[in-house]
Amino acid sequence: MRAFVLNRYGGPGAAELRDVAPPEPGPGEVRIDVKAAGLNPVDFKTREGMLRVIHPYVLPIVLGCELSGVVASVGEGVTRFRPGDAVFTRVSKERLGAFAETACVHQDLVARKPASLDFTHAAAIPLAALTALQALRDELAIKPGMRVFIPGGAGGVGTFALQIAKHLGATVATTASPRGRALVERLGADVIVDYTTQAFTSVLRDYDAAFDLIGGDTLTGALSVVRRGGKVVSIAGLPEPKTATQDLGRGASLATLFWFASAGIRFRAWRAGVNYRYLFMRPDGKQLEELAALVDAKKLEVVVDRVFAFDQIADAFAYLEGGRAKGKVVVTLG
Ligand SMILES: NC(=O)c1ccc[n+]([C@@H]2O[C@H](COP(=O)([O-])OP(=O)(O)OC[C@H]3O[C@@H](n4cnc5c(N)ncnc54)[C@H](OP(=O)(O)O)[C@@H]3O)[C@@H](O)[C@H]2O)c1
Repeated sequence: MRAFVLNRYGGPGAAELRDVAPPEPGPGEVRIDVKAAGLNPVDFKTREGMLRVIHPYVLPIVLGCELSGVVASVGEGVTRFRPGDAVFTRVSKERLGAFAETACVHQDLVARKPASLDFTHAAAIPLAALTALQALRDELAIKPGMRVFIPGGAGGVGTFALQIAKHLGATVATTASPRGRALVERLGADVIVDYTTQAFTSVLRDYDAAFDLIGGDTLTGALSVVRRGGKVVSIAGLPEPKTATQDLGRGASLATLFWFASAGIRFRAWRAGVNYRYLFMRPDGKQLEELAALVDAKKLEVVVDRVFAFDQIADAFAYLEGGRAKGKVVVTLG
């Protein structure tokens, strides 16, 4: 089968499309004929070796975190799916493998594709929408009437996060350049700050929570617009001890490393009286079912920016790495 394989860590030339043996489903796994796969910044970060401390992959490995497709066969003990089912999934972080004609995924990570969507749009959901759901509902506990700041609302995670925050009943502020303004407005943002002309720190005050998608100075600034006792969850800043123990199920050595890595931002958060958390999303088939229901109920729109053919996947990577995507980037197969 054709697959996009990471041969060594490095720049764009480190991964290539080539033929590899198709995987066989193990116990509890479904084998999926892939119709479409979504791209995420973690794909090029993995290619560059930025996640080596967390996921020490033995190379070569087939890249790709999320896909939609049709179940071709099932392994021993699979009860939830049958051949012919249309599905979508955020694949296992340990194994990856979505950028391929066939992928094997544990049934617990898989859900039925939203009936109202084609495969291209379904493939754009899993990683970004699960991240937004887990950050906003499970970590920040957003409730009706709360005010939440989500910098970077026009990207892959942002387009889901704005809608999920509104669905949870929050008032939402976001940042966007003029390129993304119309999009974040359509998705329900109540307050939009053009970060290219204005500092959001001079406009926003006393928010209950922030979900940071940008990191760096944006994360530091987010600490100052959240009220004392509020909470900031970042997915682009620096991991902290809970990231290691709670999200990654790892022990004291990684927690200690993350303690040192995040010492500066945790100190700033402490001084601002704000709780800081760095979240690593987790694959979850049950939560994907919830998201599919929201999509089919027309409560969650999937924004796809650009679609590339599988043999153009290097171009899709280059486009996403440009950092200007409005919604998601997807490759289609077959
Ligand atoms: N920890 C986790 O589990 C996890 C999960 C998912 C994603 N992430 C991380 O979260 C980050 C966002 O992911 P993504 O998929 O949303 O990325 P993305 O789709 O590539 O984001 C692109 C968008 O970001 C906007 N943007 C760039 N710089 C900005 C700034 N300074 N202020 C406001 N908006 C800005 C751009 O808007 P303009 O063109 O208007 O500038 C563009 O629309 C990445 O670093 C990714 O690795 C982490």
